[in-house]
Amino acid sequence: MANERIRIAAVLLAAAAWMASGCSEEAPTYSRGEFHPPGWEHPSSHGTTTQGIGYSTCFQCHGFDLAGGTSRVACSECHGLSPLQCNFCHGDEAADPDAAYGWAPPIDLSHGAATTRIGVGAHRAHLRNLTLTTPLECEDCHPDVTGIDDPSHLDGSPFAEVVFGARARSDDATPEWDRTTATCSNVYCHGRFDHGNRGNNPRWTDVGHGAAACGTCHGVGEHEPHASAAVGCACHATVISYQNGIYTLDPSKHINGRIDH
Ligand code: HEC
Ligand code: HEC
Ligand code: HEC
Ligand code: HEC
Ligand code: HEC
Repeated sequence: MANERIRIAAVLLAAAAWMASGCSEEAPTYSRGEFHPPGWEHPSSHGTTTQGIGYSTCFQCHGFDLAGGTSRVACSECHGLSPLQCNFCHGDEAADPDAAYGWAPPIDLSHGAATTRIGVGAHRAHLRNLTLTTPLECEDCHPDVTGIDDPSHLDGSPFAEVVFGARARSDDATPEWDRTTATCSNVYCHGRFDHGNRGNNPRWTDVGHGAAACGTCHGVGEHEPHASAAVGCACHATVISYQNGIYTLDPSKHINGRIDH
């Protein structure tokens, strides 16, 4: 473990020194085996380290696509990563590589899994086992990435681009993502709809603290035209029923871009 930390420190220090010296513009040329600590080519060294810290450190010299970058060493030389799987650099490595939900964090690009990390946040809550609506797709919040080489994918910025899709823009909403506060505003799905709670700005990194409660997107104290649960349910009978204090929602009709009755 101590060795591992030394190796990680070596990569990070080298990376910092390189960046300080002007980064990719004046990338020095190294002979094979010269740059990293001895033995780095062995999986127990670079493999274990990468599994511990994620790929974000490697991108800087080996390229965002891991095809070589300024280091001129492509990971695919030894890995046969062609085509690279969508859950290789981010997402759940254990998931079926063809299942889109597995491409999203956790795991994030720095190998983190905590929902308090901006790269992880509420991905899982939006993509799997939803009770309120049908699962979202990547394109609901990101550009539609159709392949690793897609121009909207690896654009040289270390962060993911957040671009809202049709669902969040329903009813002429103009949703916005504020990275500094990690919040979304004006999102149709979270309250920017007729009789919704328009001031609701959910925080992406605040998972499990009630953002899915009826009163968040719908607001509280809103009497007309929703005088009571019974009235609300009677008017939207194809979407919801209410019995003995329990709501039953049809997820395919809820948060689908229109008010159903
Ligand atoms: C000189 C050959 C070589 C190069 C270049 C190389 N690797 Fe590896 N790496 C290996 C071998 C061999 C293994 C063990 C393979 C296995 O078990 O399937 C490995 C294992 C790994 C593992 C552990 C998980 C796994 O698939 O077994 C990770 C993560 C990894 N490499 C990342 C990278 C990254 C990222 C790059 C490029 C920046 C890279 N490697 C470049 C040879 C290489
Ligand atoms: C600051 C630049 C830099 C960073 C960051 C960096 N590398 Fe490298 N890497 C290089 C250079 C330059 C080479 C070619 C010279 C060499 O092989 O030592 C190289 C070569 C390699 C090789 C081939 C080594 C061999 O002897 O065949 C592997 C494997 C590798 N890097 C993996 C990684 C992994 C995995 C990461 C991220 C955890 C990473 N590198 C981060 C610059 C970097
Ligand atoms: C509900 C909106 C939403 C959905 C749906 C969504 N994402 Fe994200 N994603 C985000 C936000 C917000 C961030 C953080 C952006 C930032 O760092 O500024 C993010 C970040 C990311 C990152 C960067 C992680 C890091 O370490 O920085 C990746 C990769 C990613 N998303 C992939 C996906 C994929 C793949 C899907 C579909 C399977 C998906 N996302 C679906 C909102 C979403
Ligand atoms: C070689 C590493 C790597 C692989 C493989 C990879 N991604 Fe990414 N992905 C990234 C990085 C780095 C980012 C964030 C930085 C950026 O957007 O430039 C990202 C961001 C994303 C995002 C957030 C939107 C965006 O463009 O920022 C989505 C969606 C995404 N990837 C989908 C995919 C899909 C689909 C595949 C498979 C076709 C895939 N990724 C394979 C590295 C990778
Ligand atoms: C994440 C935000 C959100 C939460 C949480 C939420 N709703 Fe909604 N709700 C919406 C949106 C957006 C609409 C607008 C119509 C649509 O697209 O379905 C809506 C509409 C409705 C409607 C009108 C019928 C329709 O067309 O969907 C009913 C009834 C309803 N919600 C009941 C509930 C109940 C009961 C709960 C709690 C179990 C709840 N909602 C929680 C966002 C939310």
